[in-house]
This record gives sequence, structure tokens and C-alpha cells, in this order.
Amino acid sequence: MTQQQLRIIVPPHPLIQHWLGVARDVATPSVLFRSAITELGRWLTYEASRDWLPTQEISVQTPLAACPATFINPNIPVAVVPILRAGLGLLEGAQCVLPLASIYHFGLVRNEETLEPTCYLNNLPEKFAPFTRVLITEPMLATGGSIMAVMAELTQRGVDPALTRIVSVIVAPPALQKLAAVYPGLIVYTATIDEILNDHGYIVPGLGDAGDRIFGT
Ligand code: URA
Repeated sequence: MTQQQLRIIVPPHPLIQHWLGVARDVATPSVLFRSAITELGRWLTYEASRDWLPTQEISVQTPLAACPATFINPNIPVAVVPILRAGLGLLEGAQCVLPLASIYHFGLVRNEETLEPTCYLNNLPEKFAPFTRVLITEPMLATGGSIMAVMAELTQRGVDPALTRIVSVIVAPPALQKLAAVYPGLIVYTATIDEILNDHGYIVPGLGDAGDRIFGT
């Protein structure tokens, strides 16, 4: 049996690199920053859904003949979990790719001294149906506190980490190490990996506070 490992996928796509550059630039105004994060949500979700969306084969009749066709399987639920508030920025792009997905909001606020997250909103169902595909949106994986809290809630509710994808804009080693230790089957899609966290838990060079820049507050 092969041992599973956390996989971090940085799709080599020029649009992803372009919108990352726009998002990193401190001179980018909030309205354009929001567009950049939306676009990153769209293209990273497109990449993340590649081997993950369940399909089914059905025969269709073209104007000329019968032929086999592949469709998204509507019987397997797909869920998106945006981690509020910054994860909302990636949601619109994710929904463009996954228009039928159910959205379950999960709100966390970070204590700026301890860097620990506290939950203020949990819209997750008691139990997810077997085989549900779950996509989590969180622009910045820094210390890993928030993503570990959400993963714990999801797995307690029956979510399979191997059927879970995380879409993030910038990820840093501390969060990746925590995820790898507990959820080896998980796959993270990101625009880049930055190596450094400062003393306040911010990713360097990063892009600053994603939530503040999305919402202009
Ligand atoms: N959250 C952010 O918004 N930015 C960081 O750099 C780290 C966490």
C-alpha cells in the first residue's frame, strides 16, 4: 500500500500568476483586489475540480446518432465551505465553476495576541452525506489555526479528507506541516508558497491582510 502525503499543487497557469501579482501589489485598490481574489478563486477551483468532480456516462442522441457522453453526477453532493471572512472573497469564483454546490459558511476570528481562532458562525450540517466533495476556500494558510479548526469540524461530520480540496492564494510552511501531520490524503491548491511568517502571524512577502483588503476595512 502506498503511503499518502499532503499534496500542494501550484498550477503553472499565467492567469493565476497574473492575479497573484495584482493581489500582492500594495498599490492595488480594494475594488481591483477583490477582482483578483475572485479570479484566483475561479482558476484555482477549476484546477482543483479536475480529478475531483464525480462524473457519469450517459448515452445522448445527437442530431445524427446516439453517442456516449460524460456529465457531472448530480447524485454526489458538492459543498463549498468559505472560511469567513476572507474566504468569501474566493467564493464567487468557486461558484462560477461549481454552480450547483451547497455553500456552508464557517466564521472564525483570530485573536491577534494568541493567534488562535474562535468560531462565531457554524452553518455546517450535523452530518455530510457519504462521498460528499468538499472544497474549502481560505486565501491565506499561515499559522494553520483556522484551517485545522475547520478540518476538525468537517471530519467530525463525516467528511473524508481524501475527497476534500483546499483552495488558497498563499500558503506557508507552518499551516502545511500541521495539515500534513493529521490529513495526509488532503490536496491544497494555491497560487504560491511563501516561506516566512512574521511575529504577528502574517505571511511575508504575502499580500497583507486579505480580509481587510477584500472588504476595504
Ligand atoms: N491572514 C491574512 O490575511 N494574511 C496573512 O498574511 C496571514 C493571515
